[in-house]
Amino acid sequence: MIFGAIVAGGVGNRMNLSGLPKQFLPLGESKKPIIIHTLEKFLMCDKFDYIYLGVHKDWTQYAEELIEKYGLKNEKIVITPGGADRNSTIFNIISAIEKRGEVRDGDIIVTHDAVRPFLTLRMINENIEAAKNCGACDTVIPAVDTIVESKDGKLITAVPNRKYLYQGQTPQSFDIKKLKKLYLDLSEEEKSQMTDACGVFVARNEPVELVMGDTFNIKITTVSDYKIAEAILGGMPE
Ligand code: CTP
Repeated sequence: MIFGAIVAGGVGNRMNLSGLPKQFLPLGESKKPIIIHTLEKFLMCDKFDYIYLGVHKDWTQYAEELIEKYGLKNEKIVITPGGADRNSTIFNIISAIEKRGEVRDGDIIVTHDAVRPFLTLRMINENIEAAKNCGACDTVIPAVDTIVESKDGKLITAVPNRKYLYQGQTPQSFDIKKLKKLYLDLSEEEKSQMTDACGVFVARNEPVELVMGDTFNIKITTVSDYKIAEAILGGMPE
């Protein structure tokens, strides 16, 4: 089976506008909430058996009402409470999937940030294929800026060759059983340092395939990203 997992368990500390977590802010002329734009993209893909939304427990009812309001209520959509961090939200969703029935070898989860509303159907389809082929994949774009490393925040410790560097986006997709087995094998310390689910595979030398993302597939993290997102929907000036 193939499961969508839209992670929306955050509260947007870096962007506190009008008391709403950023995934619920209106976007574009339609004023549709960001999370609804994202969910609509997932609904365009007919390969999903279920689409889970991991929403902060204080906002699950609000999310349910939005889905109803925008006419998206559908037996495929399941809302579950998010976790303390992004990875916990993903694993809460996996637990909810397991509660509904057995997870089999080859079952795939396509995880995606609710606050990246500009993903495309191509990215979703390529994620599903790559996760089936390889067990894990990450959506990336080639790095355009030179990335410098500094271990103390004062002096540069390395300047890695840019041609080998990419910026990670989402979706990130996984064979569910493989992800869970590798995650359970991590120490508590490794788990606490793991900010990215692909890192679970990399930490155990398991392959993660690259899927090409897009510069438009931005994550709305700050107010300036929100303005860029509005500009993307507004189209290019003549
Ligand atoms: N996320 C989640 N569960 C958490 C924290 C984050 O599902 N406990 C989700 C967010 O809702 C978002 C995505 O992960 O869709 C990317 O996270 P980020 O941009 O960091 O969102 P927030 O945690 O909400 O923002 P901030 O770090 O500014 O508080």
